[in-house]
Amino acid sequence: MSRKISPETVKADFNEVAAVLHYTRAAHELGLWKSERLVVGRFFPDRGALLLEAGCGAGRATLGLWEMGYRSLAAFDFAEELLDQARSLAANRGADGIGFFHADATALPDCAGMCGLIGPGPVADALRLAGGFGGALFLFNGLMQIPGRERRREALRRLAAACRPGAPLVFTTHDRNASRTEQALWRLEAVRWEKGLQDPRLNEFGDRYFEDEAGRTFMHLPDRTEILDDLAETGWRHDYDALRRQIAAETRAVRDFSDECRFWAATRA
Ligand SMILES: C[S@@+](CC[C@H](N)C(=O)[O-])C[C@H]1O[C@@H](n2cnc3c(N)ncnc32)[C@H](O)[C@@H]1O
Repeated sequence: MSRKISPETVKADFNEVAAVLHYTRAAHELGLWKSERLVVGRFFPDRGALLLEAGCGAGRATLGLWEMGYRSLAAFDFAEELLDQARSLAANRGADGIGFFHADATALPDCAGMCGLIGPGPVADALRLAGGFGGALFLFNGLMQIPGRERRREALRRLAAACRPGAPLVFTTHDRNASRTEQALWRLEAVRWEKGLQDPRLNEFGDRYFEDEAGRTFMHLPDRTEILDDLAETGWRHDYDALRRQIAAETRAVRDFSDECRFWAATRA
């Protein structure tokens, strides 16, 4: 019998050499996409805000945020190999002020716990003083790489608990309905689920598990209603969502790195 994809599967896949090389290369060479810079600049207007980045991987977005002028940053990931790469890139770029720590978004500790994990320094001091983050990000679909809707909701709840009321959250998802081809493929997949013929490792309709140059990838592709419900259930107020192509025209390198996706912004209620 095939085992269901679990958080351990996802973590092991991200710690594999192919994934580490893929995300490390992107952190060194690609940086933030134009659309990411625009959305981040719009929803985090205060460069001095204390921000928490979930699923930082090898630091592609983290270092991009630092370069945009956000200087009060904490960033975590549950894949140790990627986190090591992020720490080393930050040290090479002189971004020593970033508070990296190892954590699972579905079991994120409270602020005191996070201060302990971040270790002594200005980020932990600022967090202790403020009692919560002024904003959070879970970029490049990391939230959707958590298998199981209840686990994704738990991650959203934990991020809400880590943030102060009014704090913005920005994240992305792949859209199940982004193109006619996708819509047709998902209609076929729906028939497979009706007949019980789907990949037995999948947890829910909308899940995908595939292999490419980045290694094995688990991804849940939600529809819009699902995300709106999840935000409302977990302490977030929906503010905005838009497809990447509606925000900016991306370079070929960015389009090769990531398919079309949807940006979401919400506010901690
Ligand atoms: C697609 S990668 C994006 C990495 C990086 N943010 C970037 O844009 O290059 C998603 C990241 O989310 C992390 N991730 C997935 N589930 C997680 C969880 N439950 N807790 C913490 N990190 C998680 C993965 O380890 C991976 O680094």
